[in-house]
Amino acid sequence: MDHFLYRDGTLYAEDVPISEIAAAVGTPFYVYSTATLQRHFRLFDEALEGTEHLVCYAMKANSNQAVLKTLAQAGAGMDVVSGGEYRRARAAGVPGEKIVFSGVGKTREEIALALTGGIRQFNVESEPEMAVLSAVADEMGVTAPITIRVNPDVDAKTHAKIATGKSENKFGIPIARAREVYAMAAALPGLEIVGIDVHIGSQLTDLAPYEQAYLKVAELTETLRADGHSIRRLDLGGGLGIPYERSNTDPPLPSDYGAMVKRVLGHLGCEIEIEPGRLIAGNAGLMVSEVIYVKSGEGRDFLIIDGAMNDLIRPAMYEAHHDIVPVIEPAVGVEPQPIDIVGPVCESGDTFAKQRPMPPLNAGDLVAFRSAGAYGAVMASEYNSRPMIPEVLVHGDQFAVIRARPTFDEMINRDTIPEWL
Ligand code: LLP
Repeated sequence: MDHFLYRDGTLYAEDVPISEIAAAVGTPFYVYSTATLQRHFRLFDEALEGTEHLVCYAMKANSNQAVLKTLAQAGAGMDVVSGGEYRRARAAGVPGEKIVFSGVGKTREEIALALTGGIRQFNVESEPEMAVLSAVADEMGVTAPITIRVNPDVDAKTHAKIATGKSENKFGIPIARAREVYAMAAALPGLEIVGIDVHIGSQLTDLAPYEQAYLKVAELTETLRADGHSIRRLDLGGGLGIPYERSNTDPPLPSDYGAMVKRVLGHLGCEIEIEPGRLIAGNAGLMVSEVIYVKSGEGRDFLIIDGAMNDLIRPAMYEAHHDIVPVIEPAVGVEPQPIDIVGPVCESGDTFAKQRPMPPLNAGDLVAFRSAGAYGAVMASEYNSRPMIPEVLVHGDQFAVIRARPTFDEMINRDTIPEWL
């Protein structure tokens, strides 16, 4: 459930008409709902009630400072994957002890940054990383808390570009080698083993692959404990999918996921961490765009809008579906007609939808892309010299620009001219 609903025939974000925001900030723009962000965080938090746990929001999904602050104030920890994300989390007021550091390529500088500023744990992904982490911690005279990310070799049954738990993926160490690698970690001076980490992929719409992976983690927990390691924390990753197409069967709810986690892992007495990104931010955001032209082509018509692939790359990159709805609710009985919805960028891939049934629209009308709060703004670029679009946060009947659209001068003047020119 989100807080983007039609009221009196027009789309609202909480208590603010979308058209009012469009008039104030211009199109295209992203708009996020505070109430939806809070609600989705709470759903996960409540799903793990009764077990010691921390929900570490995977901030790669949407790392705007205002979004992070909203979630941090609700009690969220953060899952970061770069020094930049670590700095953003700290700047939003998240204490080091609520930050977990994931990612296959942590540099010495990033490791030192987190060890200085405070960290809950590093999720280590390889032996060379383990050696560097130990060395940096040792030089600093501290001990780095770690989990090791294991690759359970299960098929997450999601888009190949966002599956991470098969043996051919670059993530984690093969679960079959876990005992050996944990023994190596235990022998390194700068590390303290605190648990196990696993993340099998994103946009999972079925609990079965999770359960398969978590059963393997449960077994590994017992084996590693028998080997003498202190396994007191399990980081179970993120990846629970969202309903991008309302017409499809909906993916499992956080409460279903939480019940499964307790059933499969509850007997181990471990503290549980989860790293949801998409399910918290995805349906808490829209991208709003204006129709520039309606063009008749051969055998098909095109809705040319002012948002493009550089603003929302998911359809071009993953053939992802986003529901696209008119901001003015169509009158009852209006027949939708199939149309291609495209942006102005000079690539055929700048296509959001093909032959999508839409009510008749005209130049100047607004459309909203649903489920655009996660992996939307964070993946945007300035391709075709299109300035990054603004982000707006709604809270009840208030709204605020939380990242302004740069001016053309700001965009151009970021380049510098060498003296010989
Ligand atoms: N934890 C780790 C270690 C991850 O790699 C990810 C996502 C998450 C948590 C959060 O997964 P989520 O709950 O958001 O599914 N750009 C792609 C998604 C890439 C996901 C990368 N890792 C998209 O737009 O679909």
